[in-house]
Amino acid sequence: AAVRYYEWSVDYAFVSLDCVEKLAMAINGQIPGPRVDAVEGDTVVVKLTNNLPTEGVVIHWHGIRQFGTPYYDGAASASQCPINSGETFTYTFVVDQAGTYFYHGHFGMQRSAGLYGSIIVSLPANKVEPFHYDEEISLLLSDWWHKSMYEQELGLHSIPPRYVGEPQSLLIEGRGKYNCSLDECSSFHYNCTVDECSTSPDCIPCWPSNPECDPHVIPVHPGKTYRLRLANVASLSALNFILEGHTMTVVMADGHYIEPFEVSNLDIYSGQSYCVLFNANRNPSRNYWAAINVRGRDPTTPTGLAIVQYLPNSANLLPPSPAPVSPAWNDFAASTAQARKYVPRPGLHTEHRYGKVVPKRAAGRTLILLLTQNKIDGYIKWAVNNVSFVPPATPLLAAFKFNLKKISSPPDTPPNFDVSALPAATANINASYGSGAYVFKLGETVDVIIQNGHNLNPDDSDLHPWHLHGHHFWVLGYGNGKFDSRRHSKSFNLINPPLRNTVPVFPFGWSAIRFVADNPGVWPFHCHIEEHFAMGMGVMFAEGVHQLPKLPPPTLGCGLTKPTHL
Ligand code: C2O
Ligand code: CU
Repeated sequence: AAVRYYEWSVDYAFVSLDCVEKLAMAINGQIPGPRVDAVEGDTVVVKLTNNLPTEGVVIHWHGIRQFGTPYYDGAASASQCPINSGETFTYTFVVDQAGTYFYHGHFGMQRSAGLYGSIIVSLPANKVEPFHYDEEISLLLSDWWHKSMYEQELGLHSIPPRYVGEPQSLLIEGRGKYNCSLDECSSFHYNCTVDECSTSPDCIPCWPSNPECDPHVIPVHPGKTYRLRLANVASLSALNFILEGHTMTVVMADGHYIEPFEVSNLDIYSGQSYCVLFNANRNPSRNYWAAINVRGRDPTTPTGLAIVQYLPNSANLLPPSPAPVSPAWNDFAASTAQARKYVPRPGLHTEHRYGKVVPKRAAGRTLILLLTQNKIDGYIKWAVNNVSFVPPATPLLAAFKFNLKKISSPPDTPPNFDVSALPAATANINASYGSGAYVFKLGETVDVIIQNGHNLNPDDSDLHPWHLHGHHFWVLGYGNGKFDSRRHSKSFNLINPPLRNTVPVFPFGWSAIRFVADNPGVWPFHCHIEEHFAMGMGVMFAEGVHQLPKLPPPTLGCGLTKPTHL
């Protein structure tokens, strides 16, 4: 196995990714940041220098499990101290499983500032993919606001809150276009006037003539088969991906081979990644749109577009059709049906650690996590079992390892809760702040039921994509309403549940997962919507921390880990 070495500088940057300039964060001047390319089993070394003049930074390697290196997981308050301004920190970890992953800032809302990039892990020469393709393409999908992450974050923590609202633009590989009502939009519009463009659904969106926000172009050779590596790194948005005119065959989810199935549009929640195959077998005299639309929230953001360029057509040849339309944002039946289609590909369990099947024995521990929106001291917060997570100054990994303080264990499921009659959160005065962790026995099998509640408005319930660090989990099932353990645990899929690292929890519904707590460390488990995590929607899981030989000194130095001698 090889060592893949990268040197990165994180800086503030003025960028115009959707043609409107804003303050953002870039790596080596790029958004998305440089792509990490490695082969399964390789060691990735990233020497990162924080050149942000006034704040710390960390980078999380999403989907990489960090066996033996939990301190390089890159989650502030969990695995390490933020890297101070002006300092250099080196991440070193093994990419143990081929697949499509990504990295992103994990301190405050730095992902929303543009701090993200792709991680592509290929198979070693002695292994073959269970499908054929000629070439591969990776696309990071995200959302974008014109307000800086600082305004967004302060707004969420204000009374009354100033929500970030819906994104101004959707980005494909860091390129988008702000809505056509902008004056500067007039130079490149296609079949309509600027005014028409903002109102007519048939109008083809226009592109301002600013090369920084030219659409991303995906060149393809007619007749060839492509493997598209897709990941949703959005701060807020669930997305639906469409390749105009082309059917896609989904072959991999979060780095795991799945039984292939065809889709005309693909739901992809923040934190998830997919590989899909498509054949460039359409009429080659024109180009096509690659498109993303918002799912799960009433969208006000225009379709995000890139151009699939059928060579040798010019990349400037805009597709002659309107932006592709996704299923209705609130068609949760369609979303759930698609989520249920994922089953592992027989004989190709990529999970080496647990053998071929999901552990069937009764779980060592079942945790029910109830999600509610609450008010604490007038601030609107998200809470899990009535506790709204506050990132502690001392990374929990170090706090456990050195017994620095007594770490509270968060509450178990509130007894006898009834989702349909949850206390209206305005009246819910029980929520409090917490920075604790659920502690598992090393090697224990854990079931987690994530039970959605409702928002402050009891008629509303949001979709939350939940992501676990340091593990992959089996998705045992989804359901509507209140989870009833006697009834619903019988419906769990224990035959062929898919392994994932991010699972959607549908409005007013529940999702059930199972994992083995076999990776010594402290691991965030949280809603991957950055705004929700910033408002407390997350928990920490800890296991086997005392088995770790030592923590690298550069990961320490903040909170209670400050050096006591100078
Ligand atoms: Cu991709 Cu804890 O995040
Ligand atoms: Cu959420």
